[in-house]
Amino acid sequence: QEDIFKNVVSHAKEYGYIFPSSEIYDGLSAVYDYAQNGVELKKNIREYWWKSMVQMHENIVGIDASIFMHPTTWKASGHVDAFNDPLIDNKDSKKRYRADVLIEDYCEKLYQKAQKEIEKAKKRFGEAFDENQFVATNPRVVGYLTRKQEILERMARGLDNGDLADVKALIEELEIADPDTGSKNWTEVRQFNLMFGTKLGASADSAMDLYLRPETAQGIFVNFLNVQKTGRMKIPFGIAQTGKAFRNEIVARQFIFRMREFEQMEMQFFVKPGEEMKYYEYWKETRLKWHLSLGMGPENYRFHDHEKLAHYANAAADIEFNFPFGFKELEGIHSRTDFDLKAHEKFSGKKLQFFDNETNTSYVPYVVETSVGLDRMFLSVFSKSLVEETLEDGSTRTVLRLPSVLAPTKATILPLVKKDGLPELAQDIIEELKWDFNVAYDEKDAVGRRYRRADALGTPFCITVDHQSLEDKTVTIRHRDTMKQDRVAIADLRNIIENEVSM
Ligand code: GAP
Repeated sequence: QEDIFKNVVSHAKEYGYIFPSSEIYDGLSAVYDYAQNGVELKKNIREYWWKSMVQMHENIVGIDASIFMHPTTWKASGHVDAFNDPLIDNKDSKKRYRADVLIEDYCEKLYQKAQKEIEKAKKRFGEAFDENQFVATNPRVVGYLTRKQEILERMARGLDNGDLADVKALIEELEIADPDTGSKNWTEVRQFNLMFGTKLGASADSAMDLYLRPETAQGIFVNFLNVQKTGRMKIPFGIAQTGKAFRNEIVARQFIFRMREFEQMEMQFFVKPGEEMKYYEYWKETRLKWHLSLGMGPENYRFHDHEKLAHYANAAADIEFNFPFGFKELEGIHSRTDFDLKAHEKFSGKKLQFFDNETNTSYVPYVVETSVGLDRMFLSVFSKSLVEETLEDGSTRTVLRLPSVLAPTKATILPLVKKDGLPELAQDIIEELKWDFNVAYDEKDAVGRRYRRADALGTPFCITVDHQSLEDKTVTIRHRDTMKQDRVAIADLRNIIENEVSM
C-alpha cells in the first residue's frame, strides 16, 4: 500500500498534476500547488459538484463569500473557544501527534480485525453466509467491535468534558506507541486552536485581529437572511459554496489529504425544526450516490457515524473512502441544529429567522450540512484511477482511468508523421474541437509512445490523423480504457466525444 501511495505522489508530479509548493526553496510542509493538469481536474470536480448541487436543485443557490470575515463570526460560531485539536508529544522522539487520531487509528485496527473474521467466514460458508447475523453473534467480532465502541465513547467523553488526563490514561492503557519509533513515553494531552490569525489594517494600534476562515460554512450562515429574502427562498432550501479554508493542522501529512490551506465544497440546507433528521438521512444517501456516480467502486466507500460530535452538531456521519492508506473521511454530513444561526443572532443582535407565510410564524431554521474537501475528492479519484495493467502481450502500461467527465484533456490529436500535411489537418481538427473541449496536440515520438503518454495523463481519446485522413476525411479514434480503435468521420468527432464526457 505504501508503494501505491508513493506512486500516486510521484505520478502526480511527473504528469503535471501536483507540485510541492515553492519547491525551489525545498517546499513548505503540507502545502501543495495544482499544476497544469491538476488545476483542470480540480476545476472539473468542482463543476461536477456544483452542477449536481446547484443546477440540479431548484431550491439550492450558490454564493461566494470572502475568506476574511468579521472576527466576531468566530466567537459566535464557537471556533475561538472550541475549534481545538488535542495534542500529545512523545518525550523520546519529540514528535507531536493528535491524541484523538492515535486512538482512532487503534480502533481502526480493531475494526480491521473484525473485517478479517467476516471475510474468513464468508469464504467458509459461501452462499449461505448471513453477514448481519454473524456480526451480531460471533464472539470475536462482537468483542472487537464492542471494544472499539467503548474506546471511542470514552475518548469522546474525555474530550467533551475537558478531562484530558483521562484521554492520556486511555492512550497509556491501550499501550499506544509512537508510530514512528515505538516509544510509549507520552506527555500530557493539551488543546491547540487550529485557526490562523492575521491582521487587517496598517497601524499597530488600529489593526484588527482577523482569522482566515477554517470552514466556508460561516459565510453561508451570516448571509442566510440576505439570500433568503433576495432569492425569495422558501424552507426547505440550500445555499452552496466552494472556496478555500485554512487550518493550522498539527500533523499535516499524507500528501493532499490533510493540508493547511485547502478547498471545501459545502452546502447548508435550512429546514423546519423537527424535520432535520429526515433531511439528514436524505443528504447522507444523496451524497453517497453522487460519489458512486463517479464509478470508483461501491466497495471503496462506507459510512462512519460519529460518536464524538463537533461542538455544533446533534448527528454527524462521514462518508469514508478507501484511500491508499486505508479508509478515511472524505465528506461530512452534519445535522447542525440551529446552533449557528442562534449564535449569530445572539452576537449580532439581528434576527435570523424565516417567516412562514402559511402559519404566520417566525422561526430559526435547523441546518443539515454536507461538506466535502475538494482536495480529498481529487486524491480519491486520482489514487483509484491510477493502475498498472499487464497487456495480452505481457507488456505493461500505466493508465490513469479518470472518469471521462473529469479528465483534464478530453482528446489528444496526433499526426501519424510530421509531414505531408498531416500536422496541418491535425491542427484543423483542434480548431474545430477546442470550442467545446480541452484538447491537446502531440507530434513527438512514435505513435505507441504518444498513446502511452496520453494513457498516463488520463486522456480518454487519442485521435490519429494519417494519410487516409487526407483523402476521405476520417481518422482513428482510440479509447483509453479498452485501447480499441475505430475509424470515424472527422465530422462525427464532436458528438462522439460529447457523448462520453458530458456531465
Ligand atoms: N463545515 C463543516 C466542516 O468544515 P469538517 O469535517 O471539519 O467539517 C469538512 O470538514 C471536510 O473538509 C472534510 O470531510 C474534508 O474532506 C475536508 N477537510 C477538512 N480538513 C481538511 C484538511 N486539513 N485538508 C484537506 N481537507 C480537509
